[in-house]
Amino acid sequence: MTGTELTPGTEWWRTAVIYQIYPRSFADANGDGMGDLAGISARLPQLKDLGIDAIWLSPFYTSPQRDAGYDVSDYCNVDPLFGTLDDFDVLQRTAHDLGIRVIVDIVPNHSSSDHGWFQAALAASPGSEERARYTFRDGKGDNGELPPNNWESVFGGLAWTRTTDPDGTPGQWYLHLFDSSQPDFDWDSEWVREQFRAVLRFWLDRGVDGFRVDVAHGMIKAPGLPDYTPPAEGGSMGGAPSSILEPGITAETPLTAPYWAQDGVHEIYRDWHQVLAAYPGDRVLAAEAWVDPLSQMAKWVRPDEMHQAFNFAYLETPWNATQLKSVIDDSLEAFGNVGAPSTWVLSNHDVVRHASRLALTGDNLQGHGIGPKTVGLPDTVLGLRRARAASALMLSLPGSSYLYQGEELGLPEAVDLPDHAREDPTWFRTNGERYGRDGCRVPIPWEAASESFGFSTGAKSWLPQPAEWAGLARDQQDGVADSTLELYKLALRLRREHSLASGTVEWQGGFDPAVAAYRNGDVTVVANTGSASIQLPAGDVLLASEELVGRTLPGDATAWLLTVQP
Ligand code: NOJ
Repeated sequence: MTGTELTPGTEWWRTAVIYQIYPRSFADANGDGMGDLAGISARLPQLKDLGIDAIWLSPFYTSPQRDAGYDVSDYCNVDPLFGTLDDFDVLQRTAHDLGIRVIVDIVPNHSSSDHGWFQAALAASPGSEERARYTFRDGKGDNGELPPNNWESVFGGLAWTRTTDPDGTPGQWYLHLFDSSQPDFDWDSEWVREQFRAVLRFWLDRGVDGFRVDVAHGMIKAPGLPDYTPPAEGGSMGGAPSSILEPGITAETPLTAPYWAQDGVHEIYRDWHQVLAAYPGDRVLAAEAWVDPLSQMAKWVRPDEMHQAFNFAYLETPWNATQLKSVIDDSLEAFGNVGAPSTWVLSNHDVVRHASRLALTGDNLQGHGIGPKTVGLPDTVLGLRRARAASALMLSLPGSSYLYQGEELGLPEAVDLPDHAREDPTWFRTNGERYGRDGCRVPIPWEAASESFGFSTGAKSWLPQPAEWAGLARDQQDGVADSTLELYKLALRLRREHSLASGTVEWQGGFDPAVAAYRNGDVTVVANTGSASIQLPAGDVLLASEELVGRTLPGDATAWLLTVQP
């Protein structure tokens, strides 16, 4: 070990700051305009400098890239776009030597249609063992010409595609909750279960510290695959809160969508828990489960299942003190009830970056739907200001926080990409009505004066970078007091020094309703979500997301103070 020791046996994930790397857009070492594993290895010291504990890598596996790698055609290999298994080993060793843990993505709801398993299923006849590994059904109508049910793909359009038999006649249909290139497995198949145990062991044997589980609420479908029409307000991953499925539904009402949050998924995670437990060290399973309310989501992290779940309720909360206080309380209670830490997250590769989302207004508030017809695009100055304040609040909270690459630079959503550059299947499946997620996936800027802002050793970047990102490049912020990068570094250092991640939340009264103020050990955190300035209480200022004037905290700003003992 040359860096920080990785201390075993500490359940490190309870308090960790985990940084999401989106390999396509982090750093490109071979100059082809697409990020790669060697590029990541070379930049890891800068993440060490930021002060994170672990990285989560979005998929880098063999894939035709129809959904940016979430369409896997070989779960145990690296796509040549990103490098080789040896490059992965170097990356992991480099990270571990720096004291950074490595979490990889696993995509178990569906494979790529290019996967050998699916190709074998297509070649086999209806009723065969190969077909039983995926969700094939006969169509309705006189000649099977209608889809088996009315389900819609999360990316738009039908969730079923009809196959063509080897003799050229139309055949069965297969289910794809996402793109037609992403056929859903049938997890009733013991064969599928065994394959995924083997995939987990392949990466655990290589030394990974855990997995982020894609669509962890989607793998089991209700028997009979009944028709279902989701509410118009559903989230980007289909995570519609149960409260909007039907008026009057209560917090304890189970989700009704027959493809989300079915009870059978929990048996799979109990099984995976055992697979991980057989390995030394604290290996972790993190659920991407768009399930509401939090009391339901907490089922994914019961003691014998996964360890963490992304707190999307927190991500979707507007910059509003009352709502923030309520979601923080609900999160600590729901996860605390099952003995799990809460997580906190504001951005990822599927949602509008929070430096833009927090300045959206009215109908766009959820930030899932920026498209060509969106009126009132976010004010970037206000967005950045709120993002800095929101991140400062998030990083003070007890539990584990997830960061998404580029948020430490204050990157906004790229809202004006040229249409010809777009790659998200959502754009194509909605005939250009929804932009989808390319705007949060633009390669990040490292050096203002370099070609592709230092993202690549060449000039190309697979999505064009907005010219104004030069000013946000890492080298323009590193060591610059008050930059967003330095704000994150300071927050991460203080979080560690004051043990905030293992602390508690004690709300403080006597503030304006637009203020969320709480005490966490010897630190008092004051988040002002309103536009008017407020007076700070006594105590040395440790951190402020905006410049203070005397003891005045301006609007849309957060400060951390040393608590004055009574
Ligand atoms: C969730 C992933 O985060 C997203 O990027 C992907 O498109 C879907 N799952 C399908 O795998």
